Amino acid sequence: MFASDALTGSKPDQYAQLLAQARALVAGEPDRIANAANLSALVYHSLPGLNWVGFYLFDGTELVVGPFQGLPACVRIPLGKGVCGTAASTRQTQRVDDVHAFAGHIACDAASNSEIVIPLVAADGSLIGVFDIDSPELARFDLEDQAGLEAIARTFVEALA
Ligand code: SME
Repeated sequence: MFASDALTGSKPDQYAQLLAQARALVAGEPDRIANAANLSALVYHSLPGLNWVGFYLFDGTELVVGPFQGLPACVRIPLGKGVCGTAASTRQTQRVDDVHAFAGHIACDAASNSEIVIPLVAADGSLIGVFDIDSPELARFDLEDQAGLEAIARTFVEALA
């Protein structure tokens, strides 16, 4: 049984604890669906102020929704479209304080106001997908959140290898 301990201390301390839990969850497991499902659940239930946490996986043409926590979401996102497609095509994390000000934002859950999307890129440079975290709060994600969530995304990519 998984028992999640409440995160304590400064935000970087909390992300260090969350990263340790993430590493334990994926340890020895290379299955991307299993790990995406467990990491979505871990992050969604550990961090406050989130309404959607999940993965979009690249099928060779576009992004297709994968395991997530939250309301049902758009199924397919072309590269370059919306926050997710921009993260995938630029391979740069997109940290958006106000999604309504992001040209081309794809509204899946009307409650979302800010969003961070981290590209998932394999060691050989190929695109795996993106890790997408949404919040009903404006500017929910700062640089410490970005660093913490990027480390969790790296854990997912490294487990696949
Ligand atoms: N808002 C995203 C779409 C995915 S949902 O947030 C789950 C975007 O613009 O890419």
